Amino acid sequence: MKSKLNGDIMKNIEISPVSRIEGHAKITVQVDDAGNVADAHFHVMEIRGFEKFLEGAAVEEAPRITPRICGICQTAHHLAAAKATDMVFGLEPPETAKKLRELMLLGQYIHSHSLHFYFLGAPDLVMGPESDPAMRNVIGILKSNPELAMMAIKTRKIGQSITGVVGGKPISPVTAIPGGQSRGITSEQQAQLLAEAKDAVNLIEQGVEVAKPLFVQYSEAIEALGPVESHFGALSNGGSIEFYDGPAKIIDKSGNQVYEFAAADYLDYIEEKVQPWSYLKFPYLKQIGFPEGNYRVGPLARLNVADNIPTEKASALYGEYKDQYGIAQNALLYHYARLIELMYAAERAVQLLEDDSITGTDLRQQLSEPLITKEEAKESSETKRGVGMIEATRGILIHDYETDAGGFINRANLIVSTGQNNLSMDIGVRETAKQMIHGEDVSEGLKNKLEMIVRAYDPCLSCATHAIDGSSPLAVDIYDSEGQLLKKHLL
Ligand code: MG
Ligand code: NI
Repeated sequence: MKSKLNGDIMKNIEISPVSRIEGHAKITVQVDDAGNVADAHFHVMEIRGFEKFLEGAAVEEAPRITPRICGICQTAHHLAAAKATDMVFGLEPPETAKKLRELMLLGQYIHSHSLHFYFLGAPDLVMGPESDPAMRNVIGILKSNPELAMMAIKTRKIGQSITGVVGGKPISPVTAIPGGQSRGITSEQQAQLLAEAKDAVNLIEQGVEVAKPLFVQYSEAIEALGPVESHFGALSNGGSIEFYDGPAKIIDKSGNQVYEFAAADYLDYIEEKVQPWSYLKFPYLKQIGFPEGNYRVGPLARLNVADNIPTEKASALYGEYKDQYGIAQNALLYHYARLIELMYAAERAVQLLEDDSITGTDLRQQLSEPLITKEEAKESSETKRGVGMIEATRGILIHDYETDAGGFINRANLIVSTGQNNLSMDIGVRETAKQMIHGEDVSEGLKNKLEMIVRAYDPCLSCATHAIDGSSPLAVDIYDSEGQLLKKHLL
């Protein structure tokens, strides 16, 4: 069953939905009669909603509403929203509150990065891209490397514990409020979390030992898969890696700084483009243009933008990595960068918890005068704006709210991490398909290689499209050029 279009017989190969990522997506590859790839795209199929949903809400509710955007990135949304509300009300959180917020975020990093590396990304490397798909997953990891699986489970749990204690709840934290934190931690909690964070450092150290040789073993795949060269963007703390605060820094593909900007100015530098094949928008560097202004965010970008990591073990790993890869462009190195960040997150948590000021009780700057009522606000044409920018595990996250004089949201814009990697995932999939697909047969291993490119970025499509979604089995559909299904098979 084939169809003819413009004299050419074309086929579409579709990998749908891409598995072991958050949410639903598919890859389609269109092959012409000669067996060469005519085109390929990474599609995102959910529909956005939260930007609209926030309109009319009291802005101080945003830190409690927005964690619902995503079951994985709740803490990042909670904190980006809290920072935006700080700005709306003109409040500056006290030092202890900032440290608690950073610690809460580190809990999210430890949780999310360990989950992704060991259970979502590692199966490709531990089992190998050509392995049986039935084993190339968390079950395979449990069977082939139970120790690694245990390390992962323990590490992830420590992350949850930190977020739970500091954020009030391990899922959808609630303690960040305009001007600071609603509560602190006791010395008993400090001691408990410190012991756990130290355990995490040891667990991660063992995990890194298992993982590092994989990057040597699969160096060919690292070279070959998902080629793209781009700018990079990340928050920067005077050159050190930074998750919670600081301006954003953009570098070009050689590592030269091109911009540095504060959260409130992001619209001067970043614009979002819509493409017909994806519901996920494509942010790019406005002054450079689309697609030349393509930039990436997340672990690879943070390690490229930073010039140092200020903790002992992560710094040593970073030095080794930098010596080998320099300004790294390879998509699969996101995995390596993620591991180094996992180590930094645990070590930084230890640092913060060893400092007794973490139990401080000056937690919040209060409003100096009460807010006006909703009715009074209607009479006023005054508006306020707040922009919160942080490093979510997947990259720069921006919450931008405009409110009326009473603090009710008129307009919300979110720039989520995954969107900023959208174009690079798309280019990477297309280039690899062009290089590797010749003829009608597409092996399971090759389909998995296309997925590996997408998975390396750890896209969070729940976030990117602001929908709540689970996972479902991977299907590969082959379509003709007129959209007719030729063949469907489950992996
Ligand atoms: Mg937006
Ligand atoms: Ni998310």
